[in-house]
Amino acid sequence: MSRWNVLVVGNGAREHALVWKLRQSPRVDHLFCAPGNGGTAVIAENVPIAANQVEALAAWSADNQIDLVVVGPEEPLALGLVDRLTRRGVRAFGPTAVAARIESSKSWAKSLMVEANVPTAAYAIFDDAVAAWEYARIQRYPLVLKADGLAAGKGVIIAMTPEEAKAAIRMALEERTFGEAGRTLVIEEFLAGEEMSLLAFVDGRTVAPLVPARDHKRVDDDDTGPNTGGMGAIAPSRLADRYGVEHLTSTILQPIASALADRGIPYHGVLYAGLMLTADGPRVLEFNCRLGDPETQVLLPLLDEDLVDLIEATATGQLTPGPVRARAGYRCGVVLASDGYPGAYPTGLPISGLDQVDDETLVFHAGTKLVDGLLLTAGGRVLTVVGHGETLAAARQHAYQNVEKIYFAGAHYRRDIGGREADQG
Ligand SMILES: Nc1ncnc2c1ncn2[C@@H]1O[C@H](COP(=O)(O)OP(=O)(O)O)[C@@H](O)[C@H]1O
Ligand SMILES: [Mg+2]
Repeated sequence: MSRWNVLVVGNGAREHALVWKLRQSPRVDHLFCAPGNGGTAVIAENVPIAANQVEALAAWSADNQIDLVVVGPEEPLALGLVDRLTRRGVRAFGPTAVAARIESSKSWAKSLMVEANVPTAAYAIFDDAVAAWEYARIQRYPLVLKADGLAAGKGVIIAMTPEEAKAAIRMALEERTFGEAGRTLVIEEFLAGEEMSLLAFVDGRTVAPLVPARDHKRVDDDDTGPNTGGMGAIAPSRLADRYGVEHLTSTILQPIASALADRGIPYHGVLYAGLMLTADGPRVLEFNCRLGDPETQVLLPLLDEDLVDLIEATATGQLTPGPVRARAGYRCGVVLASDGYPGAYPTGLPISGLDQVDDETLVFHAGTKLVDGLLLTAGGRVLTVVGHGETLAAARQHAYQNVEKIYFAGAHYRRDIGGREADQG
C-alpha cells in the first residue's frame, strides 16, 4: 500500500481535528496544514499559505508531491480550489466551485431545494430595494433576511419589525454592507424550533450520514448575546430521534445529492444540512459545502472509520450507503474564546494549563501560535476542549473539568454546552 502525502487547508480547530484524525491513518505519510495553527504545528508541518490563496495552494501541492488535499473552509471551495487541484492532477476532498454554490449562493440553494422537494422556509428573492420592501412590509414578523453570498456568518438578520427589515434591506441592497455577497437578498419565513446539524459524506450519488450534532452559535449561556462562529458542540444529538437519521437523510440530503447529479453537477465531499425541527417537521435553514466548526471537533472523534478510506470512497463514487460507523458514547466540545470575542479581542497572550489536562481529553487549537516553544493566543476562538462519556452528562462533565484547568487572560466560554439536551435525559 502506498502512503499518501496529505495537505489540510485551513487554520481552525476543525482543521486541527482533521489533522489529528488523518494522523491515525496508516495510509498517511507526510502531513501538512496551510496555514495551520499552534496545534497543527505539533502533529503536522505548517505551510505559510493562507486558505484563500487558491492558486498558490494548488501550485504548492503540485510541486510538493501532495497526493490528497483536504479542504476545511468554504471560501477556498467557492473560489475553485478543488477545480484547480483536479486540473493539476492532485486529488482533492471537497466539492467543485459550481457544486459549492449550495453554500455560496443561498438563492441557488433555495431553488434547488424547491426542485428537489426538500422542506425549507417559504421565501422570495430580491435585488431591488423597492421591490424587497413592497414584499417585506406585508409579511408576518419576525422575518428573516439573508445575504445571498458568503458573509462569514454575519449575513443573516432576523427582523422583529418592518422597520428593522427596512433597515436590513437598505444595508444590503443600497449601502452594500455585505459587499457582493449581499447584492441579492433572500427574504424568508421565520421558523421556530430546535436547531440541529446533519452532515454526510456524498460521493456523487450515495449519501453516508454522520451522527447528528448540535452547535451553539450565541456567545453567552441560554443562547443569548451576539452570534459567533460557534461556542461549542455536542454529538450525537438526540433531538432528531423522533425522525431518525435515515428518514432525514432520505428526505433532505439524498434528494439534494440526486438533484445535483441530475443537473450534471455531481457533489463530492461533505454536505452539511442546518435544520430547524419545527412543530410542522424538519426544515432546512441552509446547506454548507464542508464540515462545520465546531461540529467537526466532536464528530471526528466519534468516527470509527479510517478517514482516508472514506475520502477516497467519496471521491471515486464508492461510498457504502447508510450511516458511517460511529463509536459509542457522546462527545462535548467547549470553545475557549478571547476576551471581547466575537468583537475585537487582544492576541499574543500566553496560554497555560494544557499540561494539566487529562490524557483522554482532546484539545483542538484554533487561534493559537507557537513562538519559541511558547503557546500564545492568536485569534477569537482559541481552543476547543472535547470531553467524552457514556452519557451526554458525563461527556459535559469531562469537558468542563478540563476546560477549568486551562488559562489565558480574559478567556471566556459557555457553561451550558449540551446542557439543555442533557437535562432532557
Ligand atoms: N428561517 C429562519 N427562521 C429562524 N431562524 C433562522 C432562519 N434562517 C436562519 N436562522 C437563524 O440564523 C442562523 C444563521 O442562518 P444560516 O442560514 O445558517 O446562515 P449562515 O450560517 O450563513 O449565517 C441560523 O443558525 C438560525 O439560528
Ligand atoms: Mg449557518
